[in-house]
Amino acid sequence: MQNQPSPILFDQNVAAAYDEKTALWAAGRDALFSLIRLILADLSSEAQILCVGVGTGTEMIALAQAFPHCRFTAVEPAPAMLDICRQKAAEHGIASRCTFHAGYLDSLPTSAPFDAATCLLVSQFFKEAADRSHFFSQIAHRLRPGGILINSDLVLGLAPPVHQSLFEVWLRMLGGSGWSEADIEKTRAAWQLHMAALTPPDIEAIIVAGGFTTPVLFFQTLFIHAWFATRTALD
Ligand SMILES: C[S@@+](CC[C@H](N)C(=O)[O-])C[C@H]1O[C@@H](n2cnc3c(N)ncnc32)[C@H](O)[C@@H]1O
Repeated sequence: MQNQPSPILFDQNVAAAYDEKTALWAAGRDALFSLIRLILADLSSEAQILCVGVGTGTEMIALAQAFPHCRFTAVEPAPAMLDICRQKAAEHGIASRCTFHAGYLDSLPTSAPFDAATCLLVSQFFKEAADRSHFFSQIAHRLRPGGILINSDLVLGLAPPVHQSLFEVWLRMLGGSGWSEADIEKTRAAWQLHMAALTPPDIEAIIVAGGFTTPVLFFQTLFIHAWFATRTALD
């Protein structure tokens, strides 16, 4: 499975600058989080939520503030990203409701099934469809039947003229968040090297193959698309 680049891509330098360098996406992210809160509104007040690829913890903190009795398990293979997540969880007073797992899902200790899972901007790092479906099936196996998946991805397989137009706006966003020309070139190379160029229907089929109902696309900003789906019965 193509799991290994993550700690390298998200090293200490990237982790330290991650929140600042995604600052221009913050307004879009807040809109995404508002919708996620609505999608999860029917969960029990003490629901258990799995945050896969939690990074610096932004989504977990937003959800913990919205759902003050829920508990969270943060899964993150890049130690530098998880360190920042832990620190921010402590600063926001939510750390006592969080379990932190430094690693991938396959080494997460078994627990009671989760009621929901978030997986924001993570699965695009699987280039092979079979690996990506396996990743979603690992999430499905951690959820109770009917448990909700919230997934967002960078969708890089749009028609070339659409991709190019979005990329020009994307570059302005990166420039406005303080990215240097060299950072931008590194990102362009990383997209080509580490990410699959799939369309929304491709990604939806991969999520279904992982054990979920047909995903509902509920959000798009530039390349970022987000879906929700529920876990189907497992073997
Ligand atoms: C682009 S960041 C997104 C972080 C956060 N979810 C957000 O939206 O700000 C992707 C994160 O996923 C993690 N990651 C990459 N591959 C992963 C995998 N197979 N399982 C879990 N996390 C992974 C990376 O280490 C990184 O922290």
